Amino acid sequence: MKSENILVIGGTGKTGRRIVQQLQELGHHVRVGSRSNQPSFDWHQPEGWAEALEGMDKVYITYQPDLAVPGALAAIEQLVKEAKRAQIKKLVLLSGKGEREAELCEQVVIHSGIAYTIVRASWFNQNFSESFLLDPILEGVVALPQAAAQIPFVDVQDIAAVAVEALLDEKHNGHIYQLTGPRTLTFNDAINEIAKASNRTITFIPVSVPEYGEGMRKANLPEDFIWLIEYLFTEVLGNPNNSEVTEDIQKILGRKAIDFSDYVQRTAATGIWNKN
Ligand SMILES: NC(=O)c1ccc[n+]([C@@H]2O[C@H](COP(=O)([O-])OP(=O)(O)OC[C@H]3O[C@@H](n4cnc5c(N)ncnc54)[C@H](OP(=O)(O)O)[C@@H]3O)[C@@H](O)[C@H]2O)c1
Repeated sequence: MKSENILVIGGTGKTGRRIVQQLQELGHHVRVGSRSNQPSFDWHQPEGWAEALEGMDKVYITYQPDLAVPGALAAIEQLVKEAKRAQIKKLVLLSGKGEREAELCEQVVIHSGIAYTIVRASWFNQNFSESFLLDPILEGVVALPQAAAQIPFVDVQDIAAVAVEALLDEKHNGHIYQLTGPRTLTFNDAINEIAKASNRTITFIPVSVPEYGEGMRKANLPEDFIWLIEYLFTEVLGNPNNSEVTEDIQKILGRKAIDFSDYVQRTAATGIWNKN
């Protein structure tokens, strides 16, 4: 197998670092694209992108914080231009399932003239252990909107495995994959599973989207982060079409998607939910 040069943008993040590890284990040469790497890659400093792309064959793209935010479309357009200049042969874009704004960014990649795969993911399991839901879990009280939403949480290990396949096998060129877990859960179901597996009492409190936004403002969170979270809760989780469970992980990896309970058992064993 030929060793390839692959830039993983967001290569220290939830999906990216797992992709970096898998590609390195397979003998590929990986460059991590992030602000803390050399050459550094910063979405806010396009003048540095050419250096990060130089000598690379393929690119995995995760945009920060989300393809739905204002400015994402212009950034993806510019990255695609730079990628063409650098003669990149393949782009794999991580997108959000059910995000209309993200689809505009997907279109830029689709019409880039470069081979591509779009990987649209549902909400990540790891939002409960490696992201903004970890702190409320540790505090023992999780207040969230959309209590009735049935969410097909997907595991980032599955997303990473699909992205690696997409990067390495040309048969995935031109495809849009929709990745979900094998079943839906409500937030309350998810919190109950986490509480049981970590032997803790964690209370789930349903709130409205405006109440949730108010709570974030009181906690002095940045206004653009509040906008994004409100958007995701309204547009993505508020849309019943996004409860759909897909078979794409099974089709691509030839095995079942990781179940939320498996994620919970594996993660509880690390002790991360028992740190307080
Ligand atoms: N969470 C979900 O449920 C979900 C669902 C569907 C899609 N998504 C999409 O997944 C993407 C995020 O992927 P992820 O969760 O794997 O990443 P992540 O865990 O959010 O990782 C952050 C990564 O991005 C880098 N980073 C942060 N700010 C940056 C900047 N300004 N410029 C360049 N790099 C920056 C970080 O490294 P440095 O700090 O070193 O720069 C790190 O490598 C987003 O586009 C999101 O929309 C998320």
